[in-house]
Amino acid sequence: MTGPSIPPPELPRVRFRRLRRSPAIARLVRETVVSIDDLVYPLFIAEADTDAGPIDAMPGQLRWSLEGIGNEVREVAELGIPAVLLFGIPSARDEIGTGAWAEDGVIPRAVAAVRDAAPDLLIITDVCLCEYTTHGHCGVVDPGPPMQVDNDATLPLLQRTAVAHARAGADVVAPSGMMDGMVAAVRSALDAAGYPDVAILSYAVKYASAFYGPFREAAGGAPRFGDRRTHQMDVANRREALREAVQDVAEGADILMVKPALGRLDIVRELRDRLDLPLAAYNVSGEYAMVKGAAARGWVDERAAVMEILTGMKRAGADLLITYHAREMARWLRA
Ligand code: PBG
Repeated sequence: MTGPSIPPPELPRVRFRRLRRSPAIARLVRETVVSIDDLVYPLFIAEADTDAGPIDAMPGQLRWSLEGIGNEVREVAELGIPAVLLFGIPSARDEIGTGAWAEDGVIPRAVAAVRDAAPDLLIITDVCLCEYTTHGHCGVVDPGPPMQVDNDATLPLLQRTAVAHARAGADVVAPSGMMDGMVAAVRSALDAAGYPDVAILSYAVKYASAFYGPFREAAGGAPRFGDRRTHQMDVANRREALREAVQDVAEGADILMVKPALGRLDIVRELRDRLDLPLAAYNVSGEYAMVKGAAARGWVDERAAVMEILTGMKRAGADLLITYHAREMARWLRA
C-alpha cells in the first residue's frame, strides 16, 4: 500500500458502556423514573346512555355512562393511579354552553359518582365550554365579522362552571379554553363561593394542534366553523409560552400544563427551569392514537413506546403525566 499510514486508534479511557453493562447498574444510574404516582387518567363521561360506548379514534377508550363510571374509577384507584381528569359530554347543547354550569349537569353528577366509588381519588375537572356549545367553540361567539370568541363575555361563564364543579366536590379545576384572564376569574369566583382550597391546574400553554383530532371525536367538541387559532397558541412560538405561563402564575394558578406535550418538550424544560410550580404534560389524544394505530399494525412495541414517551416528558421536567395510557402504564409499572 502507498500513502500515509493510518495510526492505530487511541483506546478510550472513558467507556460509557461500563455503566450500561447490566440491568442492575442501569437501575442504579437511571436519572428519570416514571412512577404510578405521576399519572393522571382522563375520562369521558356521557350524560345520555345512548352516547356511551367506544371511541373509534382512541382504541381502548370509552365514553362512560354515569352508571358505568363507578366501576371504572374503582379499578383506576386500585391500580394506584392518584387522579382522574373528567370531561363531560352533555345530552343537549346550546349557543352559550349552559350545560357546563348546570348544578345537575354531567360533570357534577360524574364527580359525585367518582367520589362515591373511589373516595380517595383526586378529581380534576376540565373547565371549558366547547363540549357544551352547539357551535363547538370554547366560549360565547361574537358573530362579527370577523367571527370570534368573545373573551370577556366568556369569563363569567367559566366562573360559574368552576364553581359548579367545586360545589359538586371537584378537588382541582382545569380551565382549558385559553381565555385571557381565565385563571384570575376562576380563582376569584372559587374564593368568593367558599372554595379557597380548590386548586387550579391551568392549561397555561395550550397550542392550536392537529393532535386534538381524536378528542374532538370523543367529546364532540369540534368547532362547526372556524378554528381556535385566535386563542390557542401558534406552534412556532416559544417566548410567548413563557409569557402565558408567567401570567397564569400571577393570576393564581397552582399547577401549569403544557399541551400537547410530545412535540413541546423544549417548552416543558424551559418552564421547569424558569418557574417553580408543578408542571403537567398532557400526552394528548392524537399522540395516543398514533401509538395505538402503529402498535395495532405491529409497527411499534406499544409498551416500550409509551415508556419512552412518558419518560421523555418526565425527563423534560414534567411532574404530572396526563395520559390515556395511564391504566396500561400502571399495570406495566406494577408487573
Ligand atoms: C377543550 C379541550 C380539548 C382537549 C382538552 N380540553 C380540545 C380542544 O382544545 O380542542 C384536547 C385533549 C386531547 O386531545 O387529548 N375542552
